[in-house]
Order: sequence, then C-alpha cells, then structure tokens
Amino acid sequence: MERELALEIVRVTEAAALASAQWMGRGKKNEADNAATTAMRKMFDSVNMEGTVVIGEGELDEAPMLYIGEKLGTGQGPKVDIAVDPLEGTTIVAKGNSNAMAVIAVADKGTLLHAPDMYMEKIAVGPNAAGLVHLDDPIETTIDIVAKANNKRVQDLCVIVQERDRHQDIIDRIRAKGARVNLFQDGDVSAAIATSFPSTGIDLFIGIGGAPEGVISAAAIKCLGGDMQARLIPHTKEEEERCIEMGLKNPRQLLTLNDLVCGEDAIFAATGVSNGDLLAGVRFLGGDLVETDSIVMRSKTKTVRFVKAHHHLSHKPHLVFV
Ligand code: FBP
Repeated sequence: MERELALEIVRVTEAAALASAQWMGRGKKNEADNAATTAMRKMFDSVNMEGTVVIGEGELDEAPMLYIGEKLGTGQGPKVDIAVDPLEGTTIVAKGNSNAMAVIAVADKGTLLHAPDMYMEKIAVGPNAAGLVHLDDPIETTIDIVAKANNKRVQDLCVIVQERDRHQDIIDRIRAKGARVNLFQDGDVSAAIATSFPSTGIDLFIGIGGAPEGVISAAAIKCLGGDMQARLIPHTKEEEERCIEMGLKNPRQLLTLNDLVCGEDAIFAATGVSNGDLLAGVRFLGGDLVETDSIVMRSKTKTVRFVKAHHHLSHKPHLVFV
C-alpha cells in the first residue's frame, strides 16, 4: 500500500465523525449511524484504491451501504481489504456520552479476518505484555503476568471491562484478586486500544464484544506493538455455518493477532466523535468552524500520527445532516 493512503483514510473517518457528531445527545442512534455511514461512503469514492469491505454494516440485504463485499474506492491503486465501523458507539452518541469514534482499518487484500457479525471473546494488552498472555489462562494468572510486564503492583493494575451481565463473574474475580476495574458502557475498540497507551492507565482489556470490532481493534493493536487474542462465539448452527463460509474451518479456534490481521501492512484510522480517553470529540467552534482529532497509524512502519483538523462546514454542505 502507498503511504499516502493513510492520510486519505483519515479524511474518511473525519467525514464520518463530522456527520455523526451532529446527532450527539438527540436520542437517535440510527440517524447518527446513517449520517456516519453516508459520509464515509461518499468520501471513499475519491480514494485511489480497489477496496472490498470485509467488515461492514452487515450483508447487502440488511445494509444499504458499506455492506460486506461492497467495492469501494476509484478502482485504481492497491487492492485492499476494508473494515469499517462508521460509528463505533451508536448508543454513546445518542446519549451524548464519551468514547464514540469513527474507525476504519485497511490492509492488503486477503489479510483481514472476515469476521461475521457475532460475539467474540477478546483479550488485549500493550507492548510490554505482548506474547505473554493467553485467552484461556485464568484471569488471576493473566493479572500476575501483566502486572509483572508493566512493572506494577497488582493493586495498581487496571483492567477495562464492558459493563454487561455476562462479565459479572470476571469482574468479581478481578476484584477478588485485588486489581482495579474500569467499567465502560460501550465502545470496546477504544477500550482495547487503550492498553497500548500507558498514559490511559489501562493495562488489560478482557471480555466479550462484537467480532467486527475485534478485527478493527486488532489492526490498531498491530500498529502499536501490543497483543490480542480472540475466539468467535457462534450461538446457533447458522452462525457456525456463517463462520465456515467466511473461511474459518473451526469457528471456535483461538485467533491470535496474526490470525485477525495476517499481513504486515495494515492502516488504522479513527476520529473522535465524542470526547474519549484517546481522542477528543468533534468541537463546533462557532460559525461554520469545526475541529476534529484523529489518529492514524501503519503497522509496517509503526508510525502513529495524531491529526488535528479545522473544517469549514460551509465548504462541505454534503456533511451537514441536522
Ligand atoms: P454499536 O456502535 O454498534 O452500538 O456497538 C457498541 C458496542 O459497545 C461495541 O463496542 C461492542 O463490541 C458491542 O457494542 C457489545 O455488544 P452488546 O451491546 O450487545 O453487549
């Protein structure tokens, strides 16, 4: 992939964030998601690449755009797999809460796991603990390993877990072990990535969330030198068959970081929609001026860029939704 693609991709996440931020706090998650998806799709049209959506907004029959298998880009340039989550945290935006982002991962064709839209068990750590943790280890063992790797006492370690009933047992065990728990409502991409940024204070991410979000997180974690493991959780025979159709012989196999993103060249870009641990959200500064904060990174070079941009909405009428 050409390096210019990274900056092109961040223009796409910026557009999605600008569009969906206009729906912040209005209690309308579908409208916020549609705005992000429409803006993202339009911006992709101008990107020089021959892209195929492998993680998208669903199948053709259930999603009008950015569906799995959809072709994106000008059709000229590198052949790439694209994973999109135009609005990661639809409920967050509807409620006006923190940590919503527009996210995209792009990688050489055939290198992103084609994960169906189902649940996935996940564990993620930062670079110090890379190669040391295993999804199937008891959480108590993992906590000891990560505490040692990050040179922290167990009491100081912070594990981020999505606040869901399905996680109550693991939350109880983390607390019984003496570590601290950060419970978040929605947005597990940002939670998983936080483990690779020591300044967030997050040492370990664990739990069950969406599989598409898992693959997108893996692309970011690969760029950052962290580590991740996962396992799909098909609940029905149909879901199992779906996994097999998408290329996984054993739907319940352990997926390493290299199974999730198998190539050496992946790009991850995200723009904050609402304020978060990693990125500030979209700020309407008055008049037509709007400010965005994004991150864009590439696994091949490990370069991580933070991009602050000023946009004049009067020059971007196609991004005005409300
Ligand atoms: P949406 O953006 O689709 O609302 O997803 C938010 C999210 O919190 C993801 O980050 C996470 O993977 C998933 O939902 C968890 O699913 P559930 O809400 O069913 O527990």
